Formats: sequence, structure tokens, C-alpha cells
Amino acid sequence: MNFQLKGRVVFFATNNINKFNEARKVLAEYNMAVGMLGVKALEIQSDSLEEIAKASVLHAFEKCHLPIIVEDAGLFIDGLNGFPGPYSAYVYKTIGNRGLLKLMENIENREAKFESVIAYYSSELKSPICFKEEAIGEITKEERRRDRASDFGFDPVFKPANSDKTFAEVTITEKNKYSHRAKALRNFAKWYKN
Ligand code: IMP
Repeated sequence: MNFQLKGRVVFFATNNINKFNEARKVLAEYNMAVGMLGVKALEIQSDSLEEIAKASVLHAFEKCHLPIIVEDAGLFIDGLNGFPGPYSAYVYKTIGNRGLLKLMENIENREAKFESVIAYYSSELKSPICFKEEAIGEITKEERRRDRASDFGFDPVFKPANSDKTFAEVTITEKNKYSHRAKALRNFAKWYKN
């Protein structure tokens, strides 16, 4: 890669435009540009977001040989003993937010957290590097959103601590102040720029 671009450009292997748009805004804070690579990243079965993200970034790197990040995220609900955690994508696809709220109908403890692991890999590294962060909050009693068009995953049912709005009721800029993904990306950006 061109010397001047080194440390300033990175590629994000994802098919999720919401993740990409959030990442683009966070990395711009560090004068970094990010390109979206729609490579189908391998998702192994594991209880660990780090293991999933590491396997996924190596797989994506094999396809493009560019400095690349992938992200694996999960929603961990206290009252469900951490479920759905690493199985969040499957749960979202099958029962969605309505099913999740139904599952929690008689559960008093609504505390929950999102976790995000950003894994980075390039040809200069021996193995992928991970940056993990979380956003603490709670599961609301009903879905709350600004508009359906910008819906992203569990955003309508997750309200971060110290906020009275769900992630789906605020702008990307506002979500990026608290979100698991934005915090992990900031840690990555600080490391990458050095
Ligand atoms: P993934 O495996 O990292 O793509 O994410 C697991 C599941 O959690 C998917 O169903 C996503 O839609 C959902 N998810 C991940 N991050 C977020 C978020 O920031 N807000 C809401 N849902 C999310």
C-alpha cells in the first residue's frame, strides 16, 4: 500500500450497511477512510465473539489481501443468562425483536449489554488483533424507533444506560457516542494511526 495512505485507509468486510455507516463516521473522526468490501465473511460456530471475528477476518483477508477489519457483535441479556450472545444473528433472523420481547414478558431484570469485537488483519501481522468494547443498557418493554426505514437489528429494543431513548430513536452520530461498535472502533483507530 502507498506510504501516504498507510494508517489512513482500511477496508471493512461486511454486508451490513448500518455497521458500515456507523464505522465510516467514527473513523472520519480520526481522518481515516474506510471502504466497504462485500465479501461473504465466514462465521464459525463459537461461544466467543473474538474467535468468530478472528476466523472471519483471516477468511476475508484470503480473498482480498488488503488491510481489513471485520466486526462480530452480540446482545447479552442478564435475565436470559447472557442469551442470545454469540447467537444474536440467528435469534434476530428467526424470532426478531417481537419474539425477544415475548420471551422477556415475565422477566423483571431487563439489564443487557451489546458487545462488539473489531478484528484487524494485514500482511504485516502474525495474527489478527482484536478490540473489544461494550454498551450497557436495558431491554425496553416495546419497540421504539424513529422510522422503520433506518431499522438496525435490536436497536429498537435496546436503551443504553443514562439515555431515555433507544438506539433506534437517535441519529447515528448520537448512537456513536455510546455504542459498543463506536468504542471498539475508536480503540482500533487510535492503535492503527500509531
Ligand atoms: P453480527 O453477527 O455481528 O452481524 O450481529 C449479530 C446480531 O446482532 C445481528 O442480528 C445484528 O443485527 C445485531 N446487531 C449487531 N450490532 C447491533 C447494533 O449495534 N444494534 C442492533 N443490533 C445489532
